[in-house]
Amino acid sequence: MKKGLKIVLIIILLILICFVIFNVKDKKELKNKGYSDDQISKFYDLDFDIDTLLSLDYCKNIDSILNKSISKDELVIFLNSCQVEPSVPNDSNDNETPVEPNEPEEPKEDPFVTSLKQAKYYIPDNLDRYIAYNDGTKEIDDIIRDVNCNIDYDFYTNTKPSDLTKGYLLLVNKYNYIDETYVPNNKTLLVKGTYSLWDDAYLEKVAYDAFKKLIDDSKSLGYNLIDTSPYRSFEYQSYLYNTRVNNEGVAAADRLSARPGFSEHQTGLATDIIKNGVSMYSFGETKEFEWLKDNAHKYGFILRYPKGKEYLTGYDYEPWHYRYVGIDVATYIYENDLVYEEYYAYFCEYKNEC
Ligand code: DAL
Ligand code: ZN
Repeated sequence: MKKGLKIVLIIILLILICFVIFNVKDKKELKNKGYSDDQISKFYDLDFDIDTLLSLDYCKNIDSILNKSISKDELVIFLNSCQVEPSVPNDSNDNETPVEPNEPEEPKEDPFVTSLKQAKYYIPDNLDRYIAYNDGTKEIDDIIRDVNCNIDYDFYTNTKPSDLTKGYLLLVNKYNYIDETYVPNNKTLLVKGTYSLWDDAYLEKVAYDAFKKLIDDSKSLGYNLIDTSPYRSFEYQSYLYNTRVNNEGVAAADRLSARPGFSEHQTGLATDIIKNGVSMYSFGETKEFEWLKDNAHKYGFILRYPKGKEYLTGYDYEPWHYRYVGIDVATYIYENDLVYEEYYAYFCEYKNEC
């Protein structure tokens, strides 16, 4: 019994020692924060949770509230508001309730990012690239357009296989290639003399039908248009490109001819159209061209490498090169003065509407 009493007394003694030690430690930490002995004893009088107090920053206006008769809850509210913006409550009205803490404000979005997000052809996945491409001199819409066209990458870098699931809307350019073995599904022969200058001239059926109608209508209006280079095999494109490289060097060849696998001609959806009997290099000065550039979209074709857009397409102006994309897409591109890369990036890749 005596032994049992001793143990109880020792436990009580240990609890008291711990209490004193923690009490002293807490008081020391509160003092280090900046509170005076007087302020600390008022916190203890209120039986205020010291751990909470220690987790908050020092509140330099604490006297203005400790000198009033307040509840623990009111003190918590005051201490929280003190963290946001130290302020002295108005002493002129003792009955006034403590100031409500301000709601923490959402961090403000960079205005440049907001402008990007509001642009017509903004693509969320490209946000980091838009930001990296911005050098402070470009308009928002230009940044969006250039990055959507991959101009922040060098030509023939970041290349990937063309998405063949897009059908006749597939994109083939300096970043998207087709396989060496790719051949159009329904190659259709163009009649020599009427539709093409050559034997063995083919277009994919959907482009063939549209091209035939275009030529028929243009003839009935008195224009003398004809195809001079429709479908090309991978091997033939290799021959054309390598010949140019040998004659003019890589840089010049790359401006005029696609590398094998990167030519739209291999899809059977593109064709070079000229005035019969006139060099393709003079086609841009003919009345045939004047008609074609403003009417090709009605048949589903776009002028693929327009003047002034060389830096986007990667090719010199080619008034003769037309690409079939269907009437609706061609009309949108014509009316909005886009290149196919711009249309494809936004509507086909991002919106998945193709
Ligand atoms: N001349 C075009 C770009 C081609 O070679 O496909
Ligand atoms: Zn061409």
